[in-house]
Amino acid sequence: PEGLTAELLDVALEAAARAGVFLREGRPADLGVAATKTSAVDVVTEMDIASEKLITDYLAERRPDDGVLGEEGAATQGTTGVEWVIDPIDGTVNYLYGRPDWSVSIAARKDGETVVGVVAAPLRGETYRAVLGEGAYVNDRRAHARVAPPFEQALVGTGFGYLESRRVHQADVVRQLIPRVRDIRRGGSAAIDLCDVATGRLDAYYERGLNPWDYAAGELIAREAGALTGGRPGVPVSPELAIAAPPGLFEPLQAWLEALGAWHD
Ligand code: IPD
Repeated sequence: PEGLTAELLDVALEAAARAGVFLREGRPADLGVAATKTSAVDVVTEMDIASEKLITDYLAERRPDDGVLGEEGAATQGTTGVEWVIDPIDGTVNYLYGRPDWSVSIAARKDGETVVGVVAAPLRGETYRAVLGEGAYVNDRRAHARVAPPFEQALVGTGFGYLESRRVHQADVVRQLIPRVRDIRRGGSAAIDLCDVATGRLDAYYERGLNPWDYAAGELIAREAGALTGGRPGVPVSPELAIAAPPGLFEPLQAWLEALGAWHD
């Protein structure tokens, strides 16, 4: 990449690396829940808050006039047309329990379009990145989504929201999908799930109810690795529904999710 995108990529990689080291080295043995958000199981730890502060402080140093949108409340309107979309720990429940699949997700949008995406997964020793139009990478290797298998051989990742009413319906969608595919995975970090589609560790992924900080970086990475991404037919990825899968698998999965009503609660 050149010019502005090269700079944004450099800033995103550095911020994600610093947060990753901080979270890996600094995880307190007695880490507990600092607060709950939309429901009793939607948790925040002191480390989510500290990681977001570390990232926004670094961004303020390198790119003081950009906008910032962060899961833990960062919200500033910039003047440059660049907006950073940050999840300081995606997979907070995994992090809380000492499970390895948590990540730091940082995307840069230019005039509303995601141009850079970085997802650092420190306990995997992997960082995923993409620049719009320039492919996706895992560490320094090119990442490629799988060639689509037949629907009934697809390994499909998904995730669940934090509200009881939403979970009841999500469970019903899974109940109807399981007999039709190879298997289902619930990894616990939407950003990593999208990167797993980008590297072929999942054939496909879908989830209802994500927030932009969960998917902004991972969606670009999946797309740049050759996957298609979207929501309901004709609709881009949004909080309503996110789907990522290679061409040939995306279409039947999207059709099934539409038929099963995976886009509503
Ligand atoms: C959550 C994770 C999880 C997904 C939830 C997200 P958080 O993000 O990405 O995999 O199923 O919908 O909220 O809360 O750990 O940042």
